[in-house]
Amino acid sequence: KQIDMDLDMLDRGGFPHFMLKEIFDQPRCLRDCMSGRLFDDKVILSAVRNNRARLLSATRFIIVACGTSWHAGLIGKQLIEHYCKIPVEVDYASEFRYRDPVILPTDVVIAISQSGETADTLAAIKLAKERGAFIFGIVNAVGSSIARETDTGIYIHVGPEIGVASTKAFTGQLTCLTLLALALANAKGTVDHDEFVSLTKELGQIPDKIDKLLKENDCIKQLARTYTYATNFLYLGRGWNYPVALEGALKLKEISYIHAEGYPAAEMKHGPIALVDNMMPVLFVATHHEGYEKVVSNMQEVKARGGRIIAVVTEGDTEVQKIADEVINVPSTLAPLAPLLTVIPLQLLAYHIAVEKGLDVDQPRNLAKSVTVE
Ligand code: G6P
Repeated sequence: KQIDMDLDMLDRGGFPHFMLKEIFDQPRCLRDCMSGRLFDDKVILSAVRNNRARLLSATRFIIVACGTSWHAGLIGKQLIEHYCKIPVEVDYASEFRYRDPVILPTDVVIAISQSGETADTLAAIKLAKERGAFIFGIVNAVGSSIARETDTGIYIHVGPEIGVASTKAFTGQLTCLTLLALALANAKGTVDHDEFVSLTKELGQIPDKIDKLLKENDCIKQLARTYTYATNFLYLGRGWNYPVALEGALKLKEISYIHAEGYPAAEMKHGPIALVDNMMPVLFVATHHEGYEKVVSNMQEVKARGGRIIAVVTEGDTEVQKIADEVINVPSTLAPLAPLLTVIPLQLLAYHIAVEKGLDVDQPRNLAKSVTVE
């Protein structure tokens, strides 16, 4: 099922492309997503309140998704394991559905989807449901097929996303996953009250911090001009920022047609380092959290091999300035929320490189917004 839309009939809100509009919409969208759900001392999700017993008795969560939504799932795993102390697996829906997976009646399957129509994700939850799992959806499109197939769930509430490369849906998914982890952790008693409150307060600050970060847009646009020559790009990050590296690389591939690989930084020495030379830009996500020193030492290894380095760092960082060719500052935040900030400059970088190359960012070749075929 393919819907042909004349994008010129829709309102870009003064932006040249939907993708840029959607990137700039993120502060408002995330406020909408948190509205009525996030409070300093509590998180209210009716899906959790109404299915409390089933969710609290889960012995495992399995996240199924595709593309950008799968990257959000990788961060969701870290959030749920860290705060709720429940094991979480993350699977590509297309692999899960054909693998004869072990599904237990005490499993909860979380399906993440912007469109709610992705064929593989829909088939994965149908299979899981047949085998007795409880299905929780994190979906943007209200009333979509996946939303209807799930037992319960939460809507992302970021409004329609038009640009093929997903941006605001990703940060909306991360916000929902954080709310879900917090609501479950509070109900289970697996999170210390002070830690809970510091996280809810900080999550509430994220839209303002994204607003601040978006002021870097012109600098990132300038920087992008330098990198249109690249035919290969490497994105590296660790811990909470490892899935961000994957997402940054995907954004670049999707719209600028530059081959880009995302890798956990420590794995660099098991292969990708062989590719590094002065034609290979390497983007490091190196915020001031656990693993920072190790990422800096990876940066030095790249530098020693002549690679050009772009680093996304926490503002106030002085160490990386000495090594990297370009530095992009993001406001400081708690480690589990870092992806909500660090992904923003990666979205902008991919956007500006694609625009600089004269490409159609909203409708890149060979890609569809919603993949309703296998
Ligand atoms: C397509 C889109 C991606 C999206 C993926 C999963 O490939 O181009 O942006 O991440 O499908 O889509 P979903 O709607 O299930 O999140």
